Amino acid sequence: MTGAASQVQADLDRLLPWLDASLTAPFRAGEAARLGEAMRYSLEAGGKRVRPVLCLLAAEAVGGTVAQALPGALALEYVHTYSLIHDDLPAMDDDDLRRGRPTNHKVFGEGHAILAGDALLTEAFGVLASAGLEPGRRAEALALLAEGAGWRGMAGGQALDLEGETLATYDLDHLRLIHRLKTGALLRASLEIGAVLGGATPADRAALRAYGEAIGLAFQIQDDILDATATDADLGKRTGKDAGRGKITYPSLLGLDGARKALSEATETALCHLATLPHRNSLAAWARYLAQRAN
Ligand code: IPE
Ligand code: IPE
Ligand code: MG
Ligand code: MG
Ligand code: MG
Repeated sequence: MTGAASQVQADLDRLLPWLDASLTAPFRAGEAARLGEAMRYSLEAGGKRVRPVLCLLAAEAVGGTVAQALPGALALEYVHTYSLIHDDLPAMDDDDLRRGRPTNHKVFGEGHAILAGDALLTEAFGVLASAGLEPGRRAEALALLAEGAGWRGMAGGQALDLEGETLATYDLDHLRLIHRLKTGALLRASLEIGAVLGGATPADRAALRAYGEAIGLAFQIQDDILDATATDADLGKRTGKDAGRGKITYPSLLGLDGARKALSEATETALCHLATLPHRNSLAAWARYLAQRAN
């Protein structure tokens, strides 16, 4: 194992059991039992938990604690899981496999899958709003989540991604914009929310926002590369689908070598932004690890 991979493994061993136990607890008992089941189905299917773990690590990187950032971490995984449920719907990418299981709409039907996504998005704001956070930090975290998830962030990027399927020509600037919005914005929010909840100075917060922006772009470039090179079993989702749907991706525009070069440039940019941070080792390892991830 490389140094980066063993640091990442140590972070996961320390944080995942606690995070996973907290994620589904609120949706166990309630009147809309089948909707709760649909929400838990996608949350419990696993997933790498990159966004919540980075949120927790960002709080530590600025001298705060993971406990301070937990509501943010939960909110981010709820928004991300909602985005995947909707991304897989027939009206979007029309996928039947996610996190190693049949997609939410295949099991619960499209209506419940739409509602499971709606409910997870809404609960994300609920968990942040009702946690006992210092009011200023709470308001900032809520605004950052809205920025990362909404029209200026993930939802906007998903719309551009869909519109891209029918564009006759596109260039690297447009592709970068799509990736920055559909994936980068929520990753950036993960780091910045962790920074805010951990009590970051303005300079540390800005550094983590910039780091998040860069690894967010890197993350989607690697997602595109894996779609073109990995197997369904590796990823727990269908591969080779981007080309079939005419998606704008880094490999389709730059070829695999060009995509790998762009990935390594974005990763180096992310690492540069950590230079002034007091506790940067773990986040540096994550940037390196995410660029080499195999799933
Ligand atoms: C997949 O995200 C969708 C993208 C934004 C690229 P992840 O690769 O983080 O998916 P999970 O959470 O591990 O399933
Ligand atoms: C999804 O991008 C980005 C989201 C906001 C969900 P993709 O459509 O490439 O994600 P996968 O490959 O289906 O996970
Ligand atoms: Mg998609
Ligand atoms: Mg998809
Ligand atoms: Mg993809």
